[in-house]
Amino acid sequence: MRDQLKHAAATAAIELVEDGMLVGLGTGSTADHALELLGERVADGLVMTGVSTSERTAVRARELEIPLRAFESGMSIDLAVDGADEVSPQLDLIKGLGGALLREKQVESCAEQLVIIVDDSKLVERLGRGPLPVEVAIDDADATLAQLRALGCEVELRRDADTPFVTDNGNCIAHLSFTGGISDPAALDAQLQALSGVIDTGLFLGMTDVVFCSGPDGVQRLERKV
Ligand code: A5P
Repeated sequence: MRDQLKHAAATAAIELVEDGMLVGLGTGSTADHALELLGERVADGLVMTGVSTSERTAVRARELEIPLRAFESGMSIDLAVDGADEVSPQLDLIKGLGGALLREKQVESCAEQLVIIVDDSKLVERLGRGPLPVEVAIDDADATLAQLRALGCEVELRRDADTPFVTDNGNCIAHLSFTGGISDPAALDAQLQALSGVIDTGLFLGMTDVVFCSGPDGVQRLERKV
């Protein structure tokens, strides 16, 4: 059922892709549906180029024969399509539980339009229902984790079996848990970004243009109020 919901949200987003577009390709189980659908459209003659947010997505895109371009900072991407871990009523997001946080933010910050695809289990009243991923430099990671704990949250290093998980950019990921959720996401983001060992956070604030949210009654289109 969840898979069908993800597929329905992805279908709505991929309909927005037009000939000639440069498209940011997200990472995760929902973004995978979008990738497959895009592959079908490319096979049917759509002309577009993708910019991947992870090595994993790039591998699948090549298998689907979706043309790719490497990310360059400042590039202009027409549309990016990705999933999210949490979506607030303001369409602010927590992302990165799939491990692709920094690249996702780099690519999606360059997008003219960021389209998020989720099933209704991802909608929250307040961000922080689950962990907030934060990408942290490997050098001196223990000191950074201690600084993060001093902010009053629980901190766990993401692991791959016995070793710390390493991102495509060669960093590790800390998962931060806040009792009662995150009361002021912008203030928290500023606090986190100010720590020298923090590379980036999974708070994607003020970036989303459209959310396609899929539930038992169909796909709802939510737009950010500016
Ligand atoms: C990847 O690191 C994440 O930001 C994903 O976009 C997010 O975790 C949503 O993934 P799912 O669609 O698999 O829930």
